[in-house]
Amino acid sequence: MENHQKLIHTFGALAELGYEVAHKQNFQEMIRTSLHLLLGSLAIMRGGVARFSRFGHELNMLVMRGLGEEFPLSLSLCHEDERQFLTNGLAPIEVAQAKVLPFFQIYDRSFTKKRIDLLVPLVIRDDLVGVILLGEKANGEPYTAYDLDIICAMSRHIGVGIAQRNLMAELERRAEENRKLYDEMRTTYKDTVKAFATAIDCKDKYTEGHSVRVGKYSEIIAQELGYDQNEVEGVAIAGYLHDVGKLTVERNIINAPYRINAKESAELNKHPSVGYEILAPIHHPYADVPLAAKYHHERLDGRGYPDGLYDKDIPYIAKIVNLADSFDAMTTDRPYKRRRPATEVIEDMQRNAGKQFAPELVTAFCRGMLRELTGELREKRFRRILGRDYLDTEGVIPMLKNVLNGISPTTPLTLVSLD
Ligand SMILES: [Fe+2]
Ligand SMILES: [Fe+2]
Repeated sequence: MENHQKLIHTFGALAELGYEVAHKQNFQEMIRTSLHLLLGSLAIMRGGVARFSRFGHELNMLVMRGLGEEFPLSLSLCHEDERQFLTNGLAPIEVAQAKVLPFFQIYDRSFTKKRIDLLVPLVIRDDLVGVILLGEKANGEPYTAYDLDIICAMSRHIGVGIAQRNLMAELERRAEENRKLYDEMRTTYKDTVKAFATAIDCKDKYTEGHSVRVGKYSEIIAQELGYDQNEVEGVAIAGYLHDVGKLTVERNIINAPYRINAKESAELNKHPSVGYEILAPIHHPYADVPLAAKYHHERLDGRGYPDGLYDKDIPYIAKIVNLADSFDAMTTDRPYKRRRPATEVIEDMQRNAGKQFAPELVTAFCRGMLRELTGELREKRFRRILGRDYLDTEGVIPMLKNVLNGISPTTPLTLVSLD
């Protein structure tokens, strides 16, 4: 009868232990509760659970109960001890019978003082993950074979808990390693793209730095649209590479100091399709970079090239790059045309919103400018590219506000105050 009750009690504890191992998020807490359950179910006076560190060849105490402050927190193991524990498996070792092992000789004093009677090596799938130390039973009687069976079963649960934790830690470590590797590759990719953009720009002496600037403007637009970091990077890369097709256009056409003739123009106008051909075979991590190259000269009203697509047929990323590209064309000196004043450029974007440009992109771009000019944004994204004074001209701020109110859906909530 007594055995029967004991069995029921133990099964209860075992079930709880299983639950602990499976559900507790906090590892330390899980081990603590598990040890208490083990000690409680057999009325054992004291004990502790230690985790084995393969690198330090030591056992580090995770939790202790009734072992006092003097008990060592870290216990070293030599190879012989490790080997012996591994061959022993999960069965409890009686400390008094194991004095031949160096481990028990070294820690004899601590073990004797605290009356550690049993040591259970936590061997899980042929791996030593830790040990459980157990003191004497509260009634002073020796452990029975039945007790040892229970200890063995409960120890397995605790061992599995530790093994799981080790596995998680290893997975986290590998994930972290992968993340670092990925970050490095990403940086390499971005650097390569930038180097490429510089190479494209080298060919065109009048529009030096064009691709790099278009990359940066595209990035600003994407940021203003609230894109996440990956999307912003993707859009920036599309900007950097949009004119890659120009690499195959003859230098004298690109650098012509006059308005080029129809034949030359046809040659130049091939660059979006050529760019697409160059970029399509490359796997780009985030955005559809090839499509941005192919369609960055399309217009909403269908009057662009190469395909004369209309609004909804133009990939969105190409619309972004188109605006960035046009803005740079208007704000830099060309062989046959000087850069236009900021007010004129803003006016042009407003006039062409809905014809060439997607209106909400013009709004986003102008909002970005306004935020910088009013000091809402500390970062000097435009000033760094356009020079300090270009946008700081009279009339620019009211004009930007006008664009924001004129193009975006105007409600009392979105209206930008004009004073
Ligand atoms: Fe272009
Ligand atoms: Fe361009």
